[in-house]
Amino acid sequence: MRLLFALIASLAAATGAAAQTYPNKSITIIVPFAAGGPSDALARIMGEHMKGTLGQSFVVENVTGAAGSIAVGRAVRSAPDGYTISFGHLGTHVANGAIYTLPYDLLADLEPVVLLPSNPMVVVSKNALPAKTLKELLAWLKANQDKATAGTAGAGSGSHLAGVYLQSLTGLKLQYVPYRGTAPALTDLVGGQIDIIVDQASNSMQQIRSGGIRAYAITDTKRLKAAPEIPTAEEAGLPGFHMTLWNGLWAPKGTPKDAIARLNTAAVAAMADPAVQKRLNDLGLEVPAREQQTPQALGVWHKAEIDKWWPIVKKAGIKPE
Ligand code: MLT
Repeated sequence: MRLLFALIASLAAATGAAAQTYPNKSITIIVPFAAGGPSDALARIMGEHMKGTLGQSFVVENVTGAAGSIAVGRAVRSAPDGYTISFGHLGTHVANGAIYTLPYDLLADLEPVVLLPSNPMVVVSKNALPAKTLKELLAWLKANQDKATAGTAGAGSGSHLAGVYLQSLTGLKLQYVPYRGTAPALTDLVGGQIDIIVDQASNSMQQIRSGGIRAYAITDTKRLKAAPEIPTAEEAGLPGFHMTLWNGLWAPKGTPKDAIARLNTAAVAAMADPAVQKRLNDLGLEVPAREQQTPQALGVWHKAEIDKWWPIVKKAGIKPE
């Protein structure tokens, strides 16, 4: 009996110790696009707050290329110890699976951690473009369709999917210009080197406010509190143009459950913090409902989004760049 007690005590100590020690060093968030873009910005906002909860710093590593599929591969191959996590979204963790021949399985090789805030897309153009309304923009794009350019973060990225969706609703032709993220794309839009981006609202918000670019419509059924002057696609004359770009955190398959739980708890605390919520809302980002913030809820959502989008993406014939 004494031996049994000793065994139980040592097991409890070991488990307790393991649970206590995570995290005992900084945690890397692999972000699939260039610094300064919407993915990078959201990952940093979340990491800043999660650091306070977990007592370890979060280091953002921007791994770009192939619309984020290289970054996800890096995360999948990392040690499943809770110290490397994968930031991504509808493009990187869903659409890419229908566009690229990936050396990993987006469902089987990743553990869901938490669904993060989402935002609608916004149609924006360089200021030099003569259009003032969405209808005028669509007319201009049609009249210039052999040279009109749209910036994206690569074939399969959110900005690219949104452009393809716009084309499917309008019959427009667009020349896509791929960047390593929509931060560099936005720089070129402000500079007038490209004509439009169908961008995440959070990415374009600052330039819209400062007058660096022009906004025409958002892909939502309600206006953004952060930018109530921008009409919805319905109001602007393009009914049905609805798209929400959601984000999430995953870990490599095999990451210990207690690490997943600690990461989830810290992310939930960040999204519950009023100061973080204000920062997110000012960018046009919306926190998911609390019941959507469990690891299981992201798992169910991820599978449903793959089932929904793969046929659409395959039918659109989107090819890797
Ligand atoms: C995209 O999908 O367009 C990316 O999120 C852009 C980015 O984060 O830089």
